[in-house]
Amino acid sequence: MSYKNINIAIEENWAMITIDRPNKLNALNKDTIQELHEAFVDLEEDEGVKVIILTGSGEKAFVAGADIAEFADFSIKKGKKLAAKGQELLFNLIENLSTPVIAAVNGFALGGGLELAMSCHFRIAGDNAKMGLPEVSLGVIPGYGGTQRLPQLIGKGRAMELIMTAGMISAEKALEYGLVNHVVPGGELLPLAKKIADKISNNSPVAISYAIKAVNAGFKNTGNGYETEIEAFGACFGTDDFSEGTSAFLEKRKAKFPGS
Ligand code: COA
Repeated sequence: MSYKNINIAIEENWAMITIDRPNKLNALNKDTIQELHEAFVDLEEDEGVKVIILTGSGEKAFVAGADIAEFADFSIKKGKKLAAKGQELLFNLIENLSTPVIAAVNGFALGGGLELAMSCHFRIAGDNAKMGLPEVSLGVIPGYGGTQRLPQLIGKGRAMELIMTAGMISAEKALEYGLVNHVVPGGELLPLAKKIADKISNNSPVAISYAIKAVNAGFKNTGNGYETEIEAFGACFGTDDFSEGTSAFLEKRKAKFPGS
């Protein structure tokens, strides 16, 4: 299968998916989400692939978020559908994949990019990585599971602060928070991912798939949270703040929120 926005390399017992829109800092547009969906479904079926590594192309970004240009003029209904469809097609798919998925965060992981990394089974980062959920600076909220997975990973208070400030944390801070498991110099990131993948692939794939299921089962009581996130994400699309926030980003100026 050939793709436009992603590349896939398969070696011995692991596969690497690289999101490849470096000019847009690998922002997740609709086509990229669809291609990632298809790639994960195919690779899960491939018994030779024991681990999947997910990363971004270029030196600057893992993924700088959902593609703002694509949703700036969406209605409430379309906004809600965007979140619901994305969660189902990609984010929940990865979280529940029976093949282990490691995010190798090689730069900015913002908004949908951090949400994508958080849906992977665990994360490692290069020392230049920067992570955050800047959605409220655009007049919207995280819509791909970020309001649920960030508190699961770093605790409620830290998640609230990061979401409310729309701030970014360094790779070191992410390590301290437990958001990533290891931080290494950029050039060592993919070798480390492959080393961990090799270790994992010595173990029973069946047992690993059951372990993923069991670990995830402990977090399933947050089902309502994901629904609330989809509703609230959609509601943002009917506000003046949202149209100001997204216009300001696309016009490369600072937003002045009317607060309605
Ligand atoms: N959606 C769409 N396009 C994006 C994008 C996104 N989330 N993030 C970056 N881009 C595009 C920029 O518009 C720019 O395109 P252009 O060259 O055609 O104008 C290109 O990627 C490079 O980004 P730029 O902003 O010039 O790089 P920078 O180094 O000055 O800043 C960031 C890097 C990550 C700080 C900045 O791009 C940014 O804030 N991105 C948005 C992050 C965000 O809010 N994500 C959440 C979305 S819900």
